[in-house]
Amino acid sequence: MYRTHTCGELRIAHAGSTVTLAGWAARIRNLGSMAFIDLRDRYGITQIAFNENVGMDLLSMVAGVGREYVLQVKGKVAERAARNPNLPTGDVELIVEEFTVLNPSLTPPFTIENETDGGDDIRMQYRYLDLRREPVRNNLILRHKLAQSVRNFLSNAGFLEVETPVLIKSTPEGARDFVVPSRMNPGQWYALPQSPQTFKQLLMVSGFDKYFQIVKCFRDEDLRADRQPEFTQIDCEMSFVEQEDILQTFEGMMKQLFREVKGIEFGDFERMTYQDAMRRFGSDKPDMRFGMEFCDLTDLAQGKGFGVFDSAESVIGICAPSAAGFSRKQLDELTEYVKRPQIGAKGMVYCRFEEGMPPKSSVDKFYTPEQLAEWGARCNVKPGDLLLVLSGNLHSTRKQMNELRLHMGNLLGLRDPNVFKPMWVVDFPLLEFDENGQRWHAMHHPFTSPLPTDLAAMESDPGSVRANAYDLVINGVEIGGGSIRIHDRALQSRMFQLLGFTEEQAKSQFGFLLSAFEYGAPPHGGIALGFDRLCSLFGGSDSIRDFIAFPKNNAGRDVMIDAPSAIDASQLSELGLK
Ligand code: AMO
Repeated sequence: MYRTHTCGELRIAHAGSTVTLAGWAARIRNLGSMAFIDLRDRYGITQIAFNENVGMDLLSMVAGVGREYVLQVKGKVAERAARNPNLPTGDVELIVEEFTVLNPSLTPPFTIENETDGGDDIRMQYRYLDLRREPVRNNLILRHKLAQSVRNFLSNAGFLEVETPVLIKSTPEGARDFVVPSRMNPGQWYALPQSPQTFKQLLMVSGFDKYFQIVKCFRDEDLRADRQPEFTQIDCEMSFVEQEDILQTFEGMMKQLFREVKGIEFGDFERMTYQDAMRRFGSDKPDMRFGMEFCDLTDLAQGKGFGVFDSAESVIGICAPSAAGFSRKQLDELTEYVKRPQIGAKGMVYCRFEEGMPPKSSVDKFYTPEQLAEWGARCNVKPGDLLLVLSGNLHSTRKQMNELRLHMGNLLGLRDPNVFKPMWVVDFPLLEFDENGQRWHAMHHPFTSPLPTDLAAMESDPGSVRANAYDLVINGVEIGGGSIRIHDRALQSRMFQLLGFTEEQAKSQFGFLLSAFEYGAPPHGGIALGFDRLCSLFGGSDSIRDFIAFPKNNAGRDVMIDAPSAIDASQLSELGLK
C-alpha cells in the first residue's frame, strides 16, 4: 500500500497513530540537525518532520531531496509544537520513521505555490506542473462539482444524455468551421461541430423529448478571455414546450447550481427585452450589478449652439455615483479611454454635480447652470455625482456608452465578482442585416422561430421581426442562449428564402433536417449554456482558460504539446493533400 492517508487528512485525533503518506516535496527546510518537508498531494499539505531521533543517514537523504521529488513517508502523527492555523492539517506533523524517494524531479521552471513566480507562457508550457498549484486545482474541482450538479438536476428532471458525433457536416452557427480531411473520401471534408444543434433537433424528431449533453464544440473564431476554439456547452433540447417552459426549467437549474455550489438563494430572475436592454444599457448582455442606466439627453442638449450635439442623432448620459471628485487627469484619462480605436468615440462631455455648487461642465460655454441642472434631473443625479455624456449616431453611441459604463463600473468597484445578477434577455431580433454581404443573417441560427405575432412582417419588414429566442445573462456575460425552433417545413423554407438560400442550397446543406421535419417533428426548443463561462463566473474570474485543464493560448496554440503542427509528407499524401 503506497499510502494509508492523504496529505489533507490528518488531524489532532490521529496523533499517536502510525501512517504512510505519499506526495510531492513542496517545501524543504533543512536546519542541519532537524529537517521539515511540506508534503503535497491533491488533498492538501502535511508537514513531515525529521527530528533528532532520526539517524543521521536519514538526514543526509533529506539533503538529497529537491522540490517536487515524489516521496513516501511512514511515521507517527504528533501534535505540533507550533501549530499552523492556515493549514487544515496544521495541528499535526508526521515524525518520520521510514522514508523513500519514489521518483526524483528536475527543478521546476517556476515555484509551485499559490502565488507563483511563473509567467503565463511558462505556466502554459508546463501546464501539468501549473495544475499542481492549489488555485488551479480548485478551479477544476469547481468545474467537476458544477458538472455533477448539472447532471443530477437534468437527470432528475427526465433529461437523457445522448452523445452526438464529432465528425460532421458543417452547421450554420455563424463562426468558421474546423475541418478534417477524409482519407477514405479523397477531396471531402468533415467539419467539427460548432454545436450539436441539428442533431439535438433530430433527436426531438426521434421522440427523445428531453435531451442534454455536456459536449465539446469547436469554433474557428478570434479568441478572447471568454472564448476558446474548443469549449464546452451544456446543450439541451425539449419537445412540446414553449419559451416559458424552457426559461422555468433552466432558471431552476441555475438556482440549484447557485444553491449547491455557492450557497446563494435566488428569487425570480429579471427579464428584459432586447430592445429595452439596448435602450437602457446599450448592450444585449447588460451587467445588472450596478445602475448607471443610460438617459437620453438629445432634446435637452440640442439647439443651444453646441455643434457636436446639434449634429448628433443621439446624446446619451450616464450618472457615475459619487464621482464628481474625479480629477482633471482622471477625466482626461476617461476621454482617452473612449477615444481609443476599439471604442471610437470622438470625445466625451462631463458635468460635475458637487454639493452646494452649480453644475460645472466641460461645455459651460454653451449651457447655463440651469440647463445643466435639467440634465442632472433627467439622469437622477445626486450631489457628488458625475454625469458623462457621449453623442453621435444612435447605434455607435450606445455601444461606446456601454463600454464607458462598464469601465466606470470597474473604476468605482461596482462589479464585485461575489455578487451575481442573473437575467433573461428575450425577444431578440430574428435577423440582422449584413452590410458587407447586403443580406439578412439569422441572429441566432436559421432554425429559430419568429414570434407568432410577428410572422406577417417576415417578408414586408424582416428587420422588425422578433425571434422566439432568449439569452441567459449573468453579470454582463452571455452564459447561454437558445430558442423555440421552427418545426414546420413551410415556415423553415420561408426562413431559408429570407436568408437568401435557393431551394437547392437549402436542400444540399440541410436536406437531412428538412426531410426529418416531414416525418412528424414535434414542437420543440432548447438552450445551450457555455460551461466554461459558467465555471469562470462561479470561480470569480474573467478568463475561462483558468477553468480548462489544457487550454489554448490567444493564438489558438497549445504550447505544451505544440499544436497545431506540420504533419508528415506521407500523412499528407495519404489524405490526398499533396
Ligand atoms: P450559442 O452560439 O449562443 O448557441 O452558444 C451557446 C453558449 O456557448 C458559449 N460559447 C462559448 N464559450 C466559450 N468559447 C466560445 N468560443 C464560445 N462560443 C459560444 C456562450 C454561448 O451563450 N446551438 C445554439 C444553442 C441553442 O439554440 O440551443 C448555440 O450554440 O456562453
